[in-house]
Amino acid sequence: MKISAEIVPPNAEQLARAAALLVAGELVAFPTETVYGLGANALDDAAAAKIFAAKGRPSSNPLIVHLPSSSAIERVALLHDPRIRNRFERLAPLWPGPLSIVLPAAKAVSRLVTAGGETVAIRVPRHPVARELLERCRTPIAAPSANQSGYVSPTTAQHVFDSLGESLTMIIDGGPCSIGLESTVLSIIGARPRLYRRGAIGAADIERRLGEEIELAPIATGASTGRPQPSPGLLAEHYAPHTPIAFFKSELLRSLEPCDAAERIGLITIAPRPDLSARPDRVVRWLSASGNLDQAAAGLFAVIRELDQLGLKQILIERCEEIGIGEAIMDRLRRASARSSNKS
Ligand code: TXA
Ligand code: MG
Repeated sequence: MKISAEIVPPNAEQLARAAALLVAGELVAFPTETVYGLGANALDDAAAAKIFAAKGRPSSNPLIVHLPSSSAIERVALLHDPRIRNRFERLAPLWPGPLSIVLPAAKAVSRLVTAGGETVAIRVPRHPVARELLERCRTPIAAPSANQSGYVSPTTAQHVFDSLGESLTMIIDGGPCSIGLESTVLSIIGARPRLYRRGAIGAADIERRLGEEIELAPIATGASTGRPQPSPGLLAEHYAPHTPIAFFKSELLRSLEPCDAAERIGLITIAPRPDLSARPDRVVRWLSASGNLDQAAAGLFAVIRELDQLGLKQILIERCEEIGIGEAIMDRLRRASARSSNKS
């Protein structure tokens, strides 16, 4: 018999139920300030295995472990190396927040969560519902974004239902995520700290706090290189909708002749563009009335998901300035468009 997830409000009764399910080894989806997570007990192999099965996620891709506060860190990570501890202490003030820190993993963490490796990514989320849930669980919770592997991350409870509604019993509805892009992922283990994924916490802020330069992990070009992937979220083709997506060039738009409505395209701009009105052959969406990039980030995945359901021939999206969260927006858009273009 197929199950269908229940979307529940984040009240005390439902959070107690959710915590009990998680402790018992079941999956529960919950809101964070970045995207919705698909949670499971991080110390329980069987529970972690359910995450990989539900998402169709390769077992080589490790999961982020979520804690209610940094005081529980030594249950899941080893901090005895003085250089690692020093870096950790400099970054800890960014928690709770959208930063995942890769550290040497403690024995208790399921080796499914670490994908068999010796390191683990840890995050203390800021969202009040996530924090209350984590406090109630009293066990670390592994949670990837609650989408099918490779697809766009969910920023509402309905997005989770659309992707995984038949694979879990409970989705906690905390409203739309305020940031809307996945956390920054940073390893502080090696000779140099290494940025694996861009997010709302930018490289410059991290460098200032650490007092040292960080290196940017190169964008991997996919499994075809035959080399092992240090962090699968680095794959060039990731976070992609089913509809081909590409950056638009204004010249290209001017040359776009009206076409058959069955060949419709989608256009996504950062701010409203009076020159790009809707026509039967195109659907136009903008992300922020004032062109604000934080707002654009918060709504981006919802708009991509919406347009992806319209059977469009292509989605064209405007580039944004790579400042602040604009770095992370452009990072995700390059990956989303890699399958169709391999350019830019
Ligand atoms: O904002 C977020 O981080 C959300 C919310 C739910 O917290 N979670 C999330 O998880 O985006 P996921 O699994 O979709 O992305 C985790 C990323 C992947 O790119 C993974 O490869 C990388 O973090 N990662 C996890 N553990 C790692 C590790 N030990 N070393 C390097 N990269 C790691
Ligand atoms: Mg993900």
